[in-house]
Amino acid sequence: MKTIGVLTSGGDAPGMNAAVRSVVRTALSMGMKVMGIRRGYNGLINGDVFEMTVRDVSEVIHRGGTVLYTARCPEFKTEEGVDKAVATCKEYGIEGIVVIGGDGSYRGARDLSLKGIPCVGVPGTIDNDISSTEYTIGFDTAMNTAMEMVDRLRDTTQSHDRCSVVEVMGRNAGHLALQTGIAVGAVAIMVPEIPCDVENVIKKIELTRKNGKEHFIIVVAEGVEKSVDQIAKEIEAATGVEARATVLGHVQRGGRPTVRDRVMASYMGNAAVELLSKGIGNRVICYDKGMIINRDIYEALQMKKPFDIDGYRVADTISM
Ligand code: ADP
Ligand code: F6P
Repeated sequence: MKTIGVLTSGGDAPGMNAAVRSVVRTALSMGMKVMGIRRGYNGLINGDVFEMTVRDVSEVIHRGGTVLYTARCPEFKTEEGVDKAVATCKEYGIEGIVVIGGDGSYRGARDLSLKGIPCVGVPGTIDNDISSTEYTIGFDTAMNTAMEMVDRLRDTTQSHDRCSVVEVMGRNAGHLALQTGIAVGAVAIMVPEIPCDVENVIKKIELTRKNGKEHFIIVVAEGVEKSVDQIAKEIEAATGVEARATVLGHVQRGGRPTVRDRVMASYMGNAAVELLSKGIGNRVICYDKGMIINRDIYEALQMKKPFDIDGYRVADTISM
């Protein structure tokens, strides 16, 4: 391939810039031209593309967000949308694309590949909910941010002998909530993958109270059916402990990427371009048992991600 494109799509994730940088520089080092595509699939539909130089990705490795901007693009779910994207690729000579995003973005990449534009997916989302990979770029930074925020909450929760019910992002998955919950020593963790009603949490609070505990942190994944406000109300009514709800929200998506995210992104971006340089598309880059591998995109989209039930049990055992 002589010219490839790169885009970021779906929710931004810290480390996406490091991935873009790696893609651009790997491709340039191989003598390829790189077209940056702005705002995910929108840029392909609207022809918002530009040639990237080595300096376009200077001073970005340490920055959160994405210099290519990102978006959710409903039009890309239609055949007309994909056809417009293919036309843009033809116009600019884009022969293959690195798509950095989540499962939804991979579906778009699959559709584009079906229309003759080979794509390689790089996993980028704070949720770590992509089935084909053990790790997604942004997860480590988001966990560390959530942990720091809850550490701050803990100070005030402790001073007032309160209960803090904290909502952590993750869309329909509880991976971010579980790791954050373990890291902050939460009394209870609620995730969509494991049935746990507020009754169980109240019992746990009562139990730890008997052991002398006076303040309580409950970490709740946003995918859990009940809102943190409702959960806090029920806890306060049942235990008499003053309870406050906190939604961490989009702060979890920003900030300087951690070492892990920068390094993973650098490896994964490089691996994606290596594939395209050999004319190989329809693949996704994955982290598997300590290695960077790649899988067929169709196979990847069929996979199911196991939840870390052992981790959940450990968290439950040691919160007393
Ligand atoms: P993520 O990539 O983080 O999972 P989304 O699910 O929002 O985020 O998907 C990002 C974009 O990928 C969507 O806005 C759309 O442009 C494209 N996309 C999502 N699902 C599909 C699909 N089924 N077919 C084609 N494109 C899709
Ligand atoms: O996929 C990343 C994510 O931050 C999820 O954790 C969350 O559910 C969603 O995106 C929020 O999306 P938006 O930025 O559109 O509010």
